[in-house]
Amino acid sequence: MPRLASHTDSVPPSGIRRIFELAQSLDDVIALVIGEPDVPADPATLDAGSRAWLADDTDYTPNGGIPELREAIVRAVAEHNGILTDPERVWVTNGATQGLHLAMGLLLDPGDEVLVPDPGYTTFTMNAHLLSATAVPYPLRPENAFVPDLAELGRLVTDRTRVIIVNSPSNPLGAVFDRPTMQGLLDFAREHDLWVISDEVYERFTYGTAHVSMASLAGAGTGDDDRVFTVFSASKTYALTGARVGWLLTPSGFAPLLRSAQEAMISCINTPAQRAVVVALTGSQQSVTDAAAHYRENLAEATAALRERGIRYLDPAGAFYLWVDVSYASRGDVAEWAERFLLEQRVAVAPGSAFGRMGEGWIRFCAAAALDDLLEGIRRLPEPPRTEIRLVRPDEYEAVSRQRFAAYAHDYEIGGEYAENVRAVEMHATVAEVWVAVDSATGDLLGSVTLPRPGEALTELGREGELEFRLLAVDPGARGRGVGRQLTEFVLDTARSRGATRVVMNSGTDMVVAHRLYESLGFARMPERENPPGVEPTRAYGLDL
Ligand SMILES: Cc1ncc(COP(=O)(O)O)c(C=O)c1O
Repeated sequence: MPRLASHTDSVPPSGIRRIFELAQSLDDVIALVIGEPDVPADPATLDAGSRAWLADDTDYTPNGGIPELREAIVRAVAEHNGILTDPERVWVTNGATQGLHLAMGLLLDPGDEVLVPDPGYTTFTMNAHLLSATAVPYPLRPENAFVPDLAELGRLVTDRTRVIIVNSPSNPLGAVFDRPTMQGLLDFAREHDLWVISDEVYERFTYGTAHVSMASLAGAGTGDDDRVFTVFSASKTYALTGARVGWLLTPSGFAPLLRSAQEAMISCINTPAQRAVVVALTGSQQSVTDAAAHYRENLAEATAALRERGIRYLDPAGAFYLWVDVSYASRGDVAEWAERFLLEQRVAVAPGSAFGRMGEGWIRFCAAAALDDLLEGIRRLPEPPRTEIRLVRPDEYEAVSRQRFAAYAHDYEIGGEYAENVRAVEMHATVAEVWVAVDSATGDLLGSVTLPRPGEALTELGREGELEFRLLAVDPGARGRGVGRQLTEFVLDTARSRGATRVVMNSGTDMVVAHRLYESLGFARMPERENPPGVEPTRAYGLDL
């Protein structure tokens, strides 16, 4: 047999499809996994499509779409998005999916790099693989309110970086970037001479924070320095996922190129679907308003239920997704956990890891569902452990000392002076603060961490204005409950309340589990502070607050 193209090997499978297919093989599943509107399409839209079929309106159309649709899109983006464009810059595509592929295909050579959000919509990365380009994830971290850190983004740029993809409102997060964030990203793209692909398919579903279109920002869309491609879609806005109609807005001057690309790829979109979308765009927008109210209400009820149960989530500002932290139960493998949750509890949700490394420990609920199903899905989540963090009591010194030693000895070879130090809880509690995590229900000690007293320092690692923590330990029997994360977050909160500007720590080079935890929380290596004289090789980490 002749061989396949080499890039086919590396196209990653979708971790969401996996759950979806497993769910389909089971009975009684509460399906909250696929991003599919649960509201019906507007009857006038469906009627227009039907009439086109019955009138045999089925000839090829221009590559960019029927003129009525392109003109309707020009008017709609002017009205809803503040984007000034013209029909020659509007390309009707096979959903936003093909719009994305088209834009990425025009902008990326094999080997080029594209910055993609992490967590982010999986198709961004899959497309990069298909094009033999490299997707470089840029982290959206909980501690940064899931907003990109421009300094961190800057460090990811190389001389092969060509494109940054921005997705607001976001799938899977439901986050919406405000105007300064969008402007910051556009300025960043200009500074590094990158193209921007802005995926705005959830543009019409926001709850509080207004949607800002990248192409509406000063200069973009109209000016000389226009570098923004935008993908939109009828799929989510008009509940027409299977109609496959989206549109790509380009900067000016791309028409000849796009005509050829569309001709080669799809020729055009099916005519009745285009006719239907003309009516969707130009007719009453009541169905969009109703759908937004329905998603908003579902999200409000669902977040109230999560709050009540003490389960952490990101407050959704847009789209129809709910991003929920189940790290207390998923033990570092949320893909496996989501599969078990489906098999045992009959609830299908998307594992966060399907959206990138930063999604580990999280799941995505699709809230475009019947409210009862959504609430039942939340009710079936495992009980989160209740953990209290307080200062160690003298009668616990011995137990914490044993636990600290067991925690370190469980993973690493320790002995000599270091082992003595690990055991020295009483001494640490005298000169500093030893905080313990305790299971509120059972009173069991789960772990501990040592902090300096306010205004003091633990070692020379911590400089002026910084808070150093040491000896973070989790009982080997309490692993996977998120205790390490809770203790670290407690340290970050304490640092903030004490006015510190950075949290720092030093650990052994082999403490890889701990390193992974710190990195997932946003800590970065500080090589210049590593290996202090007289100490074993170390790894220092810091997190700017
Ligand atoms: C962020 C994002 N972009 C694009 C798409 C694809 O939409 P379409 O149905 O228009 O191809 C989706 C669908 O889930 C999405 O979530």
